[in-house]
Amino acid sequence: MWHVLVAGSLFFPGLYVLCSRCARRARPEWTEAECSLISARIVSSIQGILAASSGFIIITSCKDVKFERHWLATWYIWFIIPYMVYDTYVMYVRHWYKCREQRILNGKEHFSRAMNSFIQKDFLMLVHHTVILTILVPIGLFLRQDKGDFFVGCLFIAEMSTPFVSLGKVLIQLNLQNSLLHKVNGAFVLLTFFMCRILLFPFMYSAYGKQYGIPLYKVPLNIPVHCNVINATMLAPQIYWFWLICRKALRLYTNSPLRKDR
Ligand SMILES: *[C@@H]1O[C@H](CO)[C@@H](O)[C@H](O)[C@H]1NC(C)=O
Repeated sequence: MWHVLVAGSLFFPGLYVLCSRCARRARPEWTEAECSLISARIVSSIQGILAASSGFIIITSCKDVKFERHWLATWYIWFIIPYMVYDTYVMYVRHWYKCREQRILNGKEHFSRAMNSFIQKDFLMLVHHTVILTILVPIGLFLRQDKGDFFVGCLFIAEMSTPFVSLGKVLIQLNLQNSLLHKVNGAFVLLTFFMCRILLFPFMYSAYGKQYGIPLYKVPLNIPVHCNVINATMLAPQIYWFWLICRKALRLYTNSPLRKDR
C-alpha cells in the first residue's frame, strides 16, 4: 500500500501548490493567507468528493455489511493519511502567514505566535485530525480484522458535507456572505451535515439490523460494546459541530442584510 501513501503525498500538496499559484495569478491583490485559505478549501472539497464517492461505491457493492470486502475501503484509508498530515500543516501555515502580515520580525517569536494562534483557533480541527490519524486509521487498517468494509464506506460518506462547508467559507472570504448563493449553500450544509454525519449512525445500525433480522433498537445489544463506544465517540463531536452550524445558520437567515444596508 506504500504506492497509495506516496500517491496521496504527491497529490494533495501538489494540488494545493497548483491552486495557490493560480489564485495568486488570478487575484494579485489577495494576501498569501487568503490565497492559502482558498487553495486549502479547494483541496479539501476535492478530498470530500473523492471520499464520498469511494464511500458510495463501497456501500453499494457490499451486500454483506459485516464480511464483504471492497479494495477501496483499505485503499482510501491509506490515501487519507497524507491528506490529514498535509491539511494540518496547511492550517498551521495559514496562521504563520497571518502572523507575518502583523509584521513580527523575530523568527522564534513568529513561530510560537503562529503555533499559539493555530492551537487556539483550530483546536477542534486539530483534535479531529489527530484522532483520525492516531485512532481511527489504525483501527481501520489493522484492528478491525478485515471486517466491516461497508461501515468504513459509510464513514467516507460523511465527507459529503465538506465541499459545501468549504464553499461557504470561500464565499465569506469573497465578501459574498449576503448573497443568495451563500444562503442556498447554507441550506445544503445543514442538509448534508445532518444526513451524512448524524443520520448516518442510525443508518449503519439499521443496515446491520436488516441483515440479521433484528429491530433497530436491539442492534446496540447485539454488537460488541466497544463498537457502540466507538460509534458514540464519533457521533458526539458531530452533534456538537451540527449545533454550531445551526447557530451560524440561524444568524445567517435572521440577521438579514437589509438591516446592514439601511
Ligand atoms: C458502528 O455501528 C455499526 C452498527 O451495527 C457496527 O457494525 C460497527 O462496527 C460500528 N463501528 C465501529 C467502528 O465500531
